Amino acid sequence: MPCFFARFGVLSLPMWYTAAMKDNHGAIIPLLLTWYDAHKRRFPYRDSGNPYYVWLSEIMLQQTRTETVTPYFTRFIARFPTVEELAGAEETEVLKAWEGLGYYSRARNLLKAARLIAQQGFPTTAEALQQLPGIGPYTAAAVASIAFQQPVPAMDGNLNRVIARLFNVGDNIGRPAIKRLLYEKGQSLIPLDRPGDMNQALMDLGATICLPGTPECHRCPLQKACLAYLEGEPDTLPVMDA
Ligand code: ADE
Repeated sequence: MPCFFARFGVLSLPMWYTAAMKDNHGAIIPLLLTWYDAHKRRFPYRDSGNPYYVWLSEIMLQQTRTETVTPYFTRFIARFPTVEELAGAEETEVLKAWEGLGYYSRARNLLKAARLIAQQGFPTTAEALQQLPGIGPYTAAAVASIAFQQPVPAMDGNLNRVIARLFNVGDNIGRPAIKRLLYEKGQSLIPLDRPGDMNQALMDLGATICLPGTPECHRCPLQKACLAYLEGEPDTLPVMDA
């Protein structure tokens, strides 16, 4: 449903617009977490409970696909098993372990952040994590929720697409008011007891079923709760600038 008011730069959306999108809400969290428990992708950094592994993997995943990251991650933690050992390394050693992954500023920032973490301990909130080199809003939310059970949505391209479809948001997601709306919807989907699992469930759904362009709705565990599937055209969402 296009939002008429958002076009004029009105910051908050009208009540009837957001209220209409609440109907499908309750079912989404349990359905998706049940699906995740059965179908989640297996990665060496998943379910480790180790903040160093979570942070390192999120930095590697910033510009790199999961399939590429896995062998690099495994070699990296064999070479630098703890954040303290990483903090004590020379930059040239870290760059060597990063060789082939590209975007080498990630490795330089990783080392700078490791030195701060080794001195001060791991920050546990998204806000505090964002103060470290190389950590933006998405990575901070991912690490805070997965490693420290903070209930914050990790809004990357995958989550924005999945949430735009679940709530049938047909407005341009580049618009600040719509970004905020999607963030609020994302926030409302993050349960206090399993925030990291819910973020990763949304990521896995976006990477394997709720694909850009051609979502595979016939395989989707959220089909009956998805407003774009029920009322709209999921393949046309999200609407964004070319
Ligand atoms: N992409 C970035 N972080 C991820 C994670 N934790 N799981 C799956 N895909 C991701």
